[in-house]
Amino acid sequence: MNITALKPFKITWAVLLCTFFSALAHAQENLYIPLETQHNALVLSVSNSHDLNIAYYGKRLNSDKEYSSVLRQYNQTGDYSQVLDAAYTSAGSRNLMEPAISVIHADGNTSLSLKYISHKVEDLDENISQASIKLEDTAYGFNVSLYYKLYKKEDVIEQWSELSHNEKGPVELTKFASGNLYFRDAQYYLTQYHGDWAHEMNPETSLLTHGIKTIDSKLGTRANLFQPSVFMVAMDQPATEDEGTVLFGAMEWSGNFKIDLELDYRDNLRLIAGMNNYASSYKLEKGEIFETPKFLHLLSHNGKGEASRKLHSWAKDYKLLDGNGERLTLLNNWEATYFDFEEKKLFELLKDTKELGVDLFLLDDGWFGNKYPRNNDDAGLGDWQANKRKLPNGVSSLVKEAGENGVKFGIWIEPEMVNPESELYHEHPEWVIKQPKRKEHYFRNQLVLDLSNPKVQDFVFNVVNDLFLENPELAYIKWDCNAVIYNAYSSHLDKQSHLYIDYVKGLYNVLERIRKKYPKVPMMLCSGGGGRVDYAALEYFTEFWPSDNTDPLERIFMQWEYSYFYPAISVANHVTEWGKQPLKFRVDVAMMGKLGFDIVVGELEQKDLQFVQHAVKTYDDIKQIVWQGDLYRLSDPKNTDFASLMYVNEEKDQAVVFNYLVNNRYGQGSKRPVKLGGLDPEKRYRIQEINLYPGTSSYIDSNQVYSGDFLMKIGFNPKVGKGKESVLLKVEAVR
Ligand code: GLA
Repeated sequence: MNITALKPFKITWAVLLCTFFSALAHAQENLYIPLETQHNALVLSVSNSHDLNIAYYGKRLNSDKEYSSVLRQYNQTGDYSQVLDAAYTSAGSRNLMEPAISVIHADGNTSLSLKYISHKVEDLDENISQASIKLEDTAYGFNVSLYYKLYKKEDVIEQWSELSHNEKGPVELTKFASGNLYFRDAQYYLTQYHGDWAHEMNPETSLLTHGIKTIDSKLGTRANLFQPSVFMVAMDQPATEDEGTVLFGAMEWSGNFKIDLELDYRDNLRLIAGMNNYASSYKLEKGEIFETPKFLHLLSHNGKGEASRKLHSWAKDYKLLDGNGERLTLLNNWEATYFDFEEKKLFELLKDTKELGVDLFLLDDGWFGNKYPRNNDDAGLGDWQANKRKLPNGVSSLVKEAGENGVKFGIWIEPEMVNPESELYHEHPEWVIKQPKRKEHYFRNQLVLDLSNPKVQDFVFNVVNDLFLENPELAYIKWDCNAVIYNAYSSHLDKQSHLYIDYVKGLYNVLERIRKKYPKVPMMLCSGGGGRVDYAALEYFTEFWPSDNTDPLERIFMQWEYSYFYPAISVANHVTEWGKQPLKFRVDVAMMGKLGFDIVVGELEQKDLQFVQHAVKTYDDIKQIVWQGDLYRLSDPKNTDFASLMYVNEEKDQAVVFNYLVNNRYGQGSKRPVKLGGLDPEKRYRIQEINLYPGTSSYIDSNQVYSGDFLMKIGFNPKVGKGKESVLLKVEAVR
């Protein structure tokens, strides 16, 4: 254990008493616990009456002794309750605000008053330390441990809590947040996201006003359909890519979440994030430990660009499965065939996969179900046996044929769901989430299986396990989840209000088992488009499907927003027939992530085929820069006529710049130079347009050499405009 880096220190009463503002702040603080990352400090303080408060969250100071002076610089109105800035706001005693935790004790009492008991800070490795702070309500023997995992280089903090008790009977947890923060800035600009199917990740930025703004989900599964838990809060003024203090936040939880942003009467912001307590009070037995999921946050003082670069590097090193590894390019048959295929057609598609030059063929929905064949989306879900008419020789003959074509084979499943028109539904109606006394209500003609039930967990595990046992060479899984939970009721659970939480824990159980046995097989997280992506799920998945909407124009905006939170290597982009743009435009947009295709290769004109084959090779050449490079968003399509994004490798000697026209009105395009980012000012670079369509030429003079200094201060014009709607540039240092 190393407590030197984050050691608490005492300050004398005398110092505090002689300061003018002390009475207005926390006069009685006598212990400070600075939790420091490379650039920031989240400073907790313990008052004389043992309340644990948040003294500060901002830039790290050179001397940790000075954190005790921070609050004295504020001259705000009084804190009547003295718990406004609690590190874990508890309900029912002095608190008057939104709580982080509320409980009903075994004796029916609803008050909670948590006091600091002890803390420890451990270095887990050179970059990570973890603080744990014990709190207790001594009147009741109710215990809370707060955890803070600090990733120093990335300035990322993960927060969660553990709740337990020694009361005579069970305690009802009625709210159980993962984290509670408190800010004392002048103004707060919240950026949140909303959406629907095919319309994911629409940003909205607004000034937070007094009262509570809540971002939440009550959908159970596919929890992000209407809004994801990712958000930003810019302090004092809206943040730009390069300027401003901004907090990025997200729940690492694939179910219902709730994020409350409460601007209090002192104009300070209380941020409370966790699982949603909606319909979810939790009965906690004596001795049982309730662990909340992690709330992730990261504070940057240099704008949204820096915040996202740090988040990407954290994600690749610590969260996303195989974040620094390889990915497979693929051909998917969903839009090429929908449910209409049989073995012969798939054999042809396997040849197309080879002809295209991608790594893998991904067989989508429609390959299973016999009594209730999956020929459209109203039957068969749950019956994971190959359909005998379509695939008389099973999945294994496809895997074999793929091998003979020199490509890999992957398959789509949606193992958490069931169509009422299925053998599974008839055999195990008790495995289905539905209310006994209510009419069934379907989302895409389907219902959700009850993953709180261990038998269902075994079933779901075996859907995957059986596929691998029968086809050891299976190289990829697309895991879909199309329905939300209606009529939440489990015939397995005694306590219905545990369902939303136990469902997600059951899901993680299954994924954990899968990953134990098949640690590295790439899996795509899909949820009727981008209905489910978060950093808890991404510990088990190598990539996610952002949206069924693959219209490249829409995708430019969507991928831009996703790029704040998720690295390009995790974002699966497919070239499809959506949208009216030429093939080159569609391919260029899909290249800004993990490239795939969902087109009928056999129907491509010769030139188009030649282009895509070459594009796959070009992608091979640039993919490491896109996947592992640093991202700079240069021109925002929301504010300008074109989008421009750039990835730079670690050595700063190679970069790729993606430019797309988003406004087709007369004369629009890149009228001014675009300032590049992340280059070495001392290095000299050549810029070349790549991925040209056969027979077209570039306006860019690739012989010209520019200094990094010039490219970052003056910029470079990608010459985007009519006739050049998308321009891909490769920037290379001249040796
Ligand atoms: C969902 C997915 C699609 C496709 C279909 C298959 O909508 O998002 O990509 O797999 O299911 O039914």
